Amino acid sequence: PARPLVDPFGRTIAYLRVSVTDRCNLRCAYCMPERMRFLPKTDLLTLEEMARIVRAFIRRGVRKVRLTGGEPLARRGVEALIADLGEEVRRGALDELTLTTNGALLARHAAGLAAAGVRRINVSLDTLDRARFARIARRDALADVLDGIEAARAAGLAVKINTVALKDDNADEIPDIIVWAHGRGMDVSLIEVMPLGEVDEDRFDQYLPLCEVRAALEKRWTLTDVAYRTGGPSRYARVEQTGGRVGFITPLTKNFCEGCNRVRLTCTGRLYMCLGRDDDADFRALLRAGADDATLDAALDAAIARKPWGHDFRIDRPGAAPAVARAMSMTGG
Ligand code: GTP
Ligand code: 5AD
Ligand code: SF4
Repeated sequence: PARPLVDPFGRTIAYLRVSVTDRCNLRCAYCMPERMRFLPKTDLLTLEEMARIVRAFIRRGVRKVRLTGGEPLARRGVEALIADLGEEVRRGALDELTLTTNGALLARHAAGLAAAGVRRINVSLDTLDRARFARIARRDALADVLDGIEAARAAGLAVKINTVALKDDNADEIPDIIVWAHGRGMDVSLIEVMPLGEVDEDRFDQYLPLCEVRAALEKRWTLTDVAYRTGGPSRYARVEQTGGRVGFITPLTKNFCEGCNRVRLTCTGRLYMCLGRDDDADFRALLRAGADDATLDAALDAAIARKPWGHDFRIDRPGAAPAVARAMSMTGG
């Protein structure tokens, strides 16, 4: 391919995350306030504009594209974007086209995703208990999520479960979630809560360091670190007793920015070079000014040349302001 995108620290950008909508049908308490104010729809990129930017990245060596949100399946027409980008998988220009979803709308989309060339997806699931789910996600949607996961598996998609570790809401349930997932052949990635955007609770009350979770798991099981990687920040261990893998995503306790291979495009066409920083590049303005491919290409170089080393998330006292003001649902994690 053409010149790869290499940042000032020598890191090659091969992974693009695209938040296709900031909207969501759930209201997870660590992600957004109950009264979340969403962006005006007129600010959004069209799906055609998104595809054009994604293809500019693919021409520069991006091999993995993940659609996120908000809830990606809540954007009308997203299946057409997935089918369109699936063409890049079929012609060998992309190794992986995938998405991170809350699963609530997955049952009706699963077969279409598989047909489009999606092979594995990540589904967020923080509890298997209906009442707890309704408290964490503030919507009574656990049954829909479980149906969605089953439909995805039936369609032949590999499913990884994402579980945000929460001090009060699910710490005691993490082993049960692992047993449940491993029993169905699914890996689990555990995630430390990150201080993005204002939410209704104090981050300090939510945050549970994964070193503590791992220590608790090791009292019960044998965990063996494995070299297996999925392209994101998760570091995996095999649980000898279940035969499955558990991943640890530790932006707070063990920074992984050194190996960063990714940037993220928002639903409004802004490119963020780091999840934990404010600097961005406005691709919507470029597109709407009639930029040709060469101009887009030059803008990619200019943006990647500004990629910062990494974030500096901390949650070390109650009442602190978020590290960045924008919500996770804008940048899609
Ligand atoms: P895999 O392809 O399975 O490796 O997925 P992934 O971990 O790249 O993506 P996913 O959307 O499942 O994200 C899991 C968690 O990792 C989310 O909480 C993301 O916010 C977080 N994450 C992904 N990339 C980054 C990153 O560059 N920095 C930080 N701090 N968190 C990230
Ligand atoms: N900190 C950590 N993870 C978060 N997610 C959403 N908000 C946060 C946050 N503040 C998770 C979701 C989903 C993934 C994309 O990010 O649960 O699994
Ligand atoms: Fe929606 Fe995902 Fe945020 Fe939950 S974490 S509110 S499912 S975008």
